[in-house]
Amino acid sequence: MSKKEELQKLKEEVESCSRCALHLSRTQAVFGMGNPESRILFVGEAPGYYEDLQGLPFVGQAGKLLDKLLGEIGFSRKEIYIANVLKCRPPKNRDPLPQEIEICKPYLLKQIEIIQPSLVCTLGRFALHLLYGKKIPISKFHGKVLPGDIFTIYPLFHPAAALHQPALYTPLREDFLNLAKILKELKSTPPVEKKPTQITLF
Ligand code: URA
Repeated sequence: MSKKEELQKLKEEVESCSRCALHLSRTQAVFGMGNPESRILFVGEAPGYYEDLQGLPFVGQAGKLLDKLLGEIGFSRKEIYIANVLKCRPPKNRDPLPQEIEICKPYLLKQIEIIQPSLVCTLGRFALHLLYGKKIPISKFHGKVLPGDIFTIYPLFHPAAALHQPALYTPLREDFLNLAKILKELKSTPPVEKKPTQITLF
């Protein structure tokens, strides 16, 4: 099966998921979107109001900012892949609960296993803590490259946080500008063959 076909199969599973109570309040699950062949994966927190309505990640205000920041470094969302920690919107956009994250985690790990990104840009603390496996402070680690055996993590502030706290906008933009350099280096390094069982080995 191609990556596209594998993702489609997983998407269908996610769309009919009822493993936690969020399925009762969602309009629809938001699986993720982008280029399955991309070496860069962005991982956000959870769908918001517009994502829940449209079934696509980052289509609201935070998504517009994400597109702008990507555009500034010469990228569009067609070239990358975007997913979230949670596939369903928490009511009133509240923070994801620990048990919701645990229940939804296999879907994100499977997406990573299929896409095999070299670089995972975490947007916000929930994606960082989940994929790094430790609750390191985003205020200290944003913009720092965290290499792993399977993929490198590049922690970024969440675009929605930068919209609510204008002081975070400049560091977020600077981290994106540095991302352009990291991506250039990435182009000169071949992808590593990864085993799914190694994904959590950070
Ligand atoms: N915020 C997220 O974390 N994900 C989305 O898809 C939209 C907003």
